[in-house]
Amino acid sequence: MKKPWSGRFREKTSKVVESFTESISFDYRLWKYDIEGSIAHTKMLAQQGIISKEDSEKIIEGLEGIAKEIETGKFRFRKELEDIHMNIEAALIRITGDAGKKLHTARSRNDQVALDLRLYLRSETKEILSLIKRFQKTLLHIATKHLHAVMPGYTHLQRAQPVLLSHHLLAYVEMLLRDMERFQDGLKRINKLPLGSCALAGTTFPIDRIYVAKLLGFDGISENSIDAVSDRDFAIEFLSNAAILIMHLSRLSEELILWSTEEFRLIELPDAFTTGSSIMPQKKNPDVAELIRGKAGRVYGNLLSLLTTMKSLPLSYNRDLQEDKQPVFDTVDTINSCLVVLNEMFPGIKFNAKRMYETAGDVYSTATDIAEYLVKKGLPFREAHETTGKIVLYCLKKGKKLEELTLKELNTFSKFIKNNIYSCLKAEESVKNKKSRGGTSPDEVKRQIRRLKKIVNSKE
Ligand code: ARG
Repeated sequence: MKKPWSGRFREKTSKVVESFTESISFDYRLWKYDIEGSIAHTKMLAQQGIISKEDSEKIIEGLEGIAKEIETGKFRFRKELEDIHMNIEAALIRITGDAGKKLHTARSRNDQVALDLRLYLRSETKEILSLIKRFQKTLLHIATKHLHAVMPGYTHLQRAQPVLLSHHLLAYVEMLLRDMERFQDGLKRINKLPLGSCALAGTTFPIDRIYVAKLLGFDGISENSIDAVSDRDFAIEFLSNAAILIMHLSRLSEELILWSTEEFRLIELPDAFTTGSSIMPQKKNPDVAELIRGKAGRVYGNLLSLLTTMKSLPLSYNRDLQEDKQPVFDTVDTINSCLVVLNEMFPGIKFNAKRMYETAGDVYSTATDIAEYLVKKGLPFREAHETTGKIVLYCLKKGKKLEELTLKELNTFSKFIKNNIYSCLKAEESVKNKKSRGGTSPDEVKRQIRRLKKIVNSKE
């Protein structure tokens, strides 16, 4: 098959080189955006009198026909034609003859591929935003359902203070909210039209880039043709946002894995979202959560991969840039599947509220409440901390829980302690008193649920 650039060549491209340089095996995924971009470009060429109206109609009709062929699986992608751009253009020329040969006027594959990737990432960003939003709604629903369930809150993975399960879940809703903001902000930089930059220098034709931007729904155009064909920072930013997102999903998965162990027993994962062992009949393994945690590695890797590809590239376009696509596609696929599966799994998780409550008040996790009690009686905090520490040490020696101490015993540590100390030793009381903004009291968590529901619903 004759190459579109065969004019200055005396030899045919080696087969090995064809296989080595092709990108059609993966960039076929950009077909829709390539055609959308070409149609807008054609309309502009006709409007500016660069090609005739008749030619533009033939081209557009041809491109629409190709779109149908691809959609229905009838189109044959050819490796000899390298990439999606040349595959579509060659097919167009086959169908429309001379008209099709005019499509590439005032355009290069360099601005074309930058355009396609931007259109692709714009669309995928919107999809990811809607998947995050759906998952946030699921988490908010579960938080509302288990509003009053008390669980142990951890620091250093040691039981620290009782918190509400709902409060803990809302922490993830907040993280996801910032993830959304990052993706939304990234859209500002993705949504600029690079087309019209041509190979790198612009063109002698009287093109109208603003018109093309309008047709394709861009917020503006790139202002430097060299920059527009050279940089992939918008894709790196996307990969970086995705890396942060999956870091959050991975932490959540890690908690599901821990909480579902026999040692924690705080939750039970749904059978449909766990797998068994081929040898140990009793096993029920949290593979879904583990895979999400594991996939964080490849998403980080994809970010590093593109950063490294870019780091020494002289301006402007270099073929190295073709290596941008697989990391981007892989990250999109990975993020989407993780969000879908988490969202489906979560409603089936059984929270063991009884065990959560029992472990929440255990191991002196209300000691801080005693210290705060003493401060309210007039002790400086450091002294109150010291006194409470001694009470805990006494309990450890006697093998007693805090609430098992008599008032007499307690008074040997401080005269200020009265009978009402016992109510603040209960996990639910401890939680109820954490009324500070952002704290774990049911009233505050209820307010946060309302606030978050409003924010999540206001996102388009
Ligand atoms: N397949 C190429 C890519 O993905 C398209 C641009 C090719 N441009 C070129 N001058 N060879 O980057």
